Amino acid sequence: MKIKNIIKSVVAIAAMALCFNLSATEPKTEKEMKSIIVYFTHSGNTELAAKKLAEVTGAPLVRLLPVEPYTAADVDWVNEQSRCTQEHLNQTLRPAIKPLDVDLSQYDTVFIGFPIWWHEEPAVIRTFLDTADLTGKELYPFCTSYESPMSEADATLQKGYPSLKWHTGLRLPASKEQVERWIKGQ
Ligand SMILES: Cc1cc2nc3c(=O)[nH]c(=O)nc-3n(C[C@H](O)[C@H](O)[C@H](O)COP(=O)(O)O)c2cc1C
Repeated sequence: MKIKNIIKSVVAIAAMALCFNLSATEPKTEKEMKSIIVYFTHSGNTELAAKKLAEVTGAPLVRLLPVEPYTAADVDWVNEQSRCTQEHLNQTLRPAIKPLDVDLSQYDTVFIGFPIWWHEEPAVIRTFLDTADLTGKELYPFCTSYESPMSEADATLQKGYPSLKWHTGLRLPASKEQVERWIKGQ
């Protein structure tokens, strides 16, 4: 009788452990996924877009700041010697950024916003991608631009950082419905 009870208890504990393990490995629902918006802006457009995205997603905002701010002369793309042109021509350049006041390990989803510079992401974004541990996170890039589409930056990001989990990016501004469809992957 005693042995029977012990066996019953062992079976019950094993079943509980199995249930617990199964629920622990189940994919998180959209509500359980924690999101954050990390963005770089020079003249404010991407900041505005990031704030609108925050309204839709409820995600907190973190601005990437270069240690050495970009001056008007730095972003003169007509000048071949300007900082932005040099950073475009020499893709190994990584402008230093200020430390982020946030623990990214707490987030599963990172929205990464930037203005398109020279048809792609600015070098500041590459500094961020090189220094932050984004392994396994769902990454949603977004941009603002005069006219360049997001697809060009999607291509450079995926080529430059192939081990990261990229979703197709979105050029903002976009409607709330477009943003929601984007996040759902539709
Ligand atoms: C250095 C530089 C390069 C740019 N290159 C492009 C480009 O290739 N294509 C484009 O459509 N817009 C380009 N733009 C325009 C910006 O992407 C656009 O104004 C953007 O919304 C600015 O965002 P921000 O206000 O957040 O800095 C460029 C702007 C700068 C300063």
